[in-house]
Amino acid sequence: MSTPALPPGVVSLADYERLAQAQLSNAAWAWLAGGAADEHTVQANSQAWAQWRLWPRVMQPLAGGHTRRTLLGRTMAHPLLLAPVALHRTVHADGEVGVACAASAQQAGLVLSTQASTPLEDVARAIRDDADRGPLWMQLYLQHDRVFNTEFVRRVEAAGYEALVLTVDAPCSGVRDRERRAGPAAPPGVSAINLQGLRPPEGQGPQAGPSALFDGLRHHAPTWDDIAWLQGLTRLPILLKGVLHPADAQQAQSMGLAGVIVSNHGGRTLDTTVSTAWALPRVVEAVGPDWPVLVDGGIRRGTDVFKALALGAHAVMIGRPYLHGLAVAGALGVAHVIRLLRDELEVAMALHGCRTLEEVRRATLVGGPTA
Ligand code: FNR
Repeated sequence: MSTPALPPGVVSLADYERLAQAQLSNAAWAWLAGGAADEHTVQANSQAWAQWRLWPRVMQPLAGGHTRRTLLGRTMAHPLLLAPVALHRTVHADGEVGVACAASAQQAGLVLSTQASTPLEDVARAIRDDADRGPLWMQLYLQHDRVFNTEFVRRVEAAGYEALVLTVDAPCSGVRDRERRAGPAAPPGVSAINLQGLRPPEGQGPQAGPSALFDGLRHHAPTWDDIAWLQGLTRLPILLKGVLHPADAQQAQSMGLAGVIVSNHGGRTLDTTVSTAWALPRVVEAVGPDWPVLVDGGIRRGTDVFKALALGAHAVMIGRPYLHGLAVAGALGVAHVIRLLRDELEVAMALHGCRTLEEVRRATLVGGPTA
């Protein structure tokens, strides 16, 4: 049996991105890399982190430093999670199980997408009993069918997931031009298998109302009333993903939710939104430093992770970068991507004079993106 090898000379997440593009079909690349409309938000997300400037201290004591963080009562070796991304088997046969094993081996958290291409039970079973793994959470898109939603949540609980991440910024798909031009990306046999059995909404078809979009949408788009319903259904902690406005974060906090993820879906839903690096400190200010706020979008460097933590994020998620690793080298590539980012975070901490993430939180950032 041959041991899979990492490609030579790969030292950064950008290297994986370049190699993934060379490897994937045009349609798969358009699906993975693309965003909504003119992709202003896709660009802005990563640029905005660079616009925050570090103002390091020198000669600080660094011995005994670490990246540990406690999140929803669980201590993690470092504050990195893999964001929910649909249909991993589009880019590599290792798919979601490979990604889960890589996350576990690198002690990163995993948020599995509702639209995973592998049964959610298989993914959980692969890592559930690993002693050192990070958090195992399930992302939820509420469907129009409450019976289906109820059964789905029961499956998630029974499989051993520890929290629900309700995505609220995508009641419909964004206008994804690049993807529409390139055509379907998923190869035959790759589909959102966990949604099997979902019946089409009643009365869908030719729309009686004035808007095909809004009339169809009412069946799927979550509202605050659905949150109360979900809270009544499960004892799992619930986080909202896709919050950009401080008032939404405050409402989530006042309803007793477990936290929010500041996200604009990696620029895939509404183009020209504010970047997450701009929104994060405003959300943190509204809900205070102790309530869990996570962030994703455009995080590609350890310094980006450092900045997110300094701005008050409790943890950080990456999306596309681990799919690049998966495309290039399967599970091993995913593990390497996580390792690279964690190592870069540790270097950023040392060079900034921070031993712990609590010290990172007290670091002063200057400048910052314009909205
Ligand atoms: C996503 N994202 C996403 N989010 C979610 O809640 N459910 C999902 O099924 C998906 N699917 C998905 C597919 C693809 C191809 C991408 C690139 C993204 C959004 C994802 O969780 C995350 O918010 C962004 O990817 C973060 O931005 P970066 O790290 O990709 O810049």
